[in-house]
Amino acid sequence: MADLSIDFAGIKSPNPFWLASAPPTNTGYQVQRAFEAGWGGAVWKTLGEPVINTSSRFAAVHFGGQRVAGFNNIELITDRPLEVNLKEIYETKKRFPNNTIIASLMVEPKQEKWHEIVKRVEAVGVDGLELNFGCPHGMAERGMGAASGQQPDLVQAQTAWVKEVATTPVIVKMTPNITDITVVARHAVKGGADAISLINTINSLAGVDIHSWNTIPNVGGQGAHGGYCGPAVKPIALSMVAECARDRAVGVPISGIGGISTWQDVVEFMLMGSTGIQVCTAVMHHGFRIVEEMIDGLNNYLDEKGLASVMELVGKSVPKYSNWGDLDLNYKVVARINEDNCINCNKCHIACEDASHQCIDMLTNAEGKAILQVREEDCVGCNLCSIVCPADGAIDMVALDSGVAPMTWNQRNQVISGLNGSYSEAEVG
Ligand SMILES: Cc1cc2nc3c(=O)[nH]c(=O)nc-3n(C[C@H](O)[C@H](O)[C@H](O)COP(=O)(O)O)c2cc1C
Ligand code: SF4
Ligand code: SF4
Repeated sequence: MADLSIDFAGIKSPNPFWLASAPPTNTGYQVQRAFEAGWGGAVWKTLGEPVINTSSRFAAVHFGGQRVAGFNNIELITDRPLEVNLKEIYETKKRFPNNTIIASLMVEPKQEKWHEIVKRVEAVGVDGLELNFGCPHGMAERGMGAASGQQPDLVQAQTAWVKEVATTPVIVKMTPNITDITVVARHAVKGGADAISLINTINSLAGVDIHSWNTIPNVGGQGAHGGYCGPAVKPIALSMVAECARDRAVGVPISGIGGISTWQDVVEFMLMGSTGIQVCTAVMHHGFRIVEEMIDGLNNYLDEKGLASVMELVGKSVPKYSNWGDLDLNYKVVARINEDNCINCNKCHIACEDASHQCIDMLTNAEGKAILQVREEDCVGCNLCSIVCPADGAIDMVALDSGVAPMTWNQRNQVISGLNGSYSEAEVG
């Protein structure tokens, strides 16, 4: 059995599975039950003011028979007084000294406000702090959350204020509602952040009720933008984690968040540079016990790979993520249909005819059976047929020797500009 414990920016945790700051971490009762179920850590529901909330506040996007493919909320931070939360954090830490408790914090962008709350939460024994510069609604309208997180200088300044008094590691949680996440990440690091976590929720409107014409959700008939999360946001979160992980100017540990619900998701985030992960929607959908399967799955995976520690996964796929301009444009794959597994549904043919390069022929084989065959010389290797194919193993994407040396877009441009240069020099000369 591999060692699942992690060291996240100096914060020790029995495993990489943390609950994200959200409804499942609202009370001591919940966090203690989560620890009993096996979660290694919890980021407490964001502490701050005011103690107020909206009703209703959640909505979900169900897609293709899957419930909660995406999740949306318009809620605020904690709806309980700071003293109550602090008392419960203290009691929970005392009962579970080996589990990780991080206090998520949000206050106005004022130095004394940050100093005050940091001192108060550290006094009850938290293992670290997470600064919520990510919540896109409600608090943002009052200059906090994503309103701070969208201003790199403000992220840097507030992080620095926290670092002036903090004695535990400081994690900056970032908003995805920004053009280039690395700009904010770099400013967080300049401000002294020990780590970053991403992503918080993405601006969204979950839907409109076509009968009442109300937005979903609505508060007495009125709706507003909310935050999107759940499985639908995973690719966005993963790319933002990847961008930060490969940026040398960021260079701090990453807590990956966004659409994680299985151990495979955890492995993906860790390979792409996360030292630990956080989960919200999957727990709201299925409950704390999903962690049991995550622990088993991760353990088996590490054993199969011959890895002694989960930390060995961290960042292993980062070198495989690069700029588009560094991709080899001479690399070639083609689709190949495996008759034995094909169920002749024709989906690949339709996709290639209507949306790709019209290179899947409908033929009859020697036994008179209808078959589909790819004209490999015309196939551009777009993957579309294999994406729409419902039969496992019916289409393989096969790498072929293109017969030409590798050349990236950037190399191609260099060659072209070199040619232009020598051409014009020769002409001018
Ligand atoms: C109902 C709800 C409330 C949330 N409240 C907070 C919060 O108080 N503080 C915070 O930092 N993030 C909050 N989040 C964001 C989550 O911590 C997390 O970043 C986001 O949901 C993405 O993870 P997921 O796809 O696993 O849900 C909230 C999310 C939801 C769904
Ligand atoms: S990979 Fe694209 S171009 Fe090639 S057969 Fe499939 S759909 Fe057509
Ligand atoms: S989509 Fe797959 S199963 Fe359907 S015809 Fe094409 S190869 Fe066969």
